[in-house]
Amino acid sequence: MRNFISVSDVQDIPSLVDQALFYKKNPFSDQDLGRHKRIGCLFLNPSMRTRLSTQIAAQHLGMEAIVFNVGQEGWALEFEDEAIMSGNTVEHVRDAAPVLGRYFDILAIRTFPSLKNREDDYSELYMNQFIKYAGIPVLSLESATLHPLQSLADIITMTESMQSQGIVRPRVVLTWAPHVKPLPQCVANSFSQWVNAWGQADFVITHPEDYELDDRFTQGATILHDQDEALKGADFVYVKNWSTYQDYGKIYTNDPGWMLSNKKLQFTRQARVMHCLPVRRNIELSDEVLDGPNSIVTQQASNRVWAAQSVLASLLKDNASK
Ligand code: CP
Repeated sequence: MRNFISVSDVQDIPSLVDQALFYKKNPFSDQDLGRHKRIGCLFLNPSMRTRLSTQIAAQHLGMEAIVFNVGQEGWALEFEDEAIMSGNTVEHVRDAAPVLGRYFDILAIRTFPSLKNREDDYSELYMNQFIKYAGIPVLSLESATLHPLQSLADIITMTESMQSQGIVRPRVVLTWAPHVKPLPQCVANSFSQWVNAWGQADFVITHPEDYELDDRFTQGATILHDQDEALKGADFVYVKNWSTYQDYGKIYTNDPGWMLSNKKLQFTRQARVMHCLPVRRNIELSDEVLDGPNSIVTQQASNRVWAAQSVLASLLKDNASK
């Protein structure tokens, strides 16, 4: 693995998951792997879980993590090639990224989409420019369209439950939920991409009409607009809001009827309920579900450490002699 930007960078998902579960039992088993190595974690946007879990994962591998909140503390970066920089941007990524490439062994980046221009966001310009100019492996801490470390943690979490419950082929339902703000499609895109590539689940996506995601990510899933129908027999329900993809970045509905409740969970096979967090209580997900026995959101968030550790270890091993 040279970079970790999407599921396409992963040759073997079950091996990456097994490695993560091994680290969960043996956090310090590779504590010399990252000795004398540094990861730079650049945040253009806020984070709690991604930031802290990546730092902890690096620490377990003996690697130093340096966090830089570029969005708040750094120079405003320009990403467009051949830009005439007469506006607010102060430094071009073409100048900044090679410097970061000399300071660090791995560069990790978090960016969000603008949700204003779909073509721009889906071109993943920010991530691609860092890959182009840094000269070292690049790890996505969430990009404009994908959140691969989250999705790996999601697969790890489902694998744990499958193993403990004896579930062979689960029905996994990704359900849209209401929200007060237009949110990116990243988590839903990425979860869909990973579940499809994983191939070990019957995958259903349910959302209101006109909330279709980009079918490059969802192809292979069954798509239903009837949430009750979708939930029937579910083993896992992943709750997430996203804004519209076609008429980009809009909110068409906030129908509270789409919020998951205990009543709706009765359609499922005692489904475990997942959410990437942060979550808006009683908008996206009800207190009764979040605080009830079906919720595995804390386990899911805790697995972000092992997902990050597994990926960092693979990047360190695969790029050791390069
Ligand atoms: N799920 C997730 O990425 O959380 P943060 O935004 O807090 O990192």
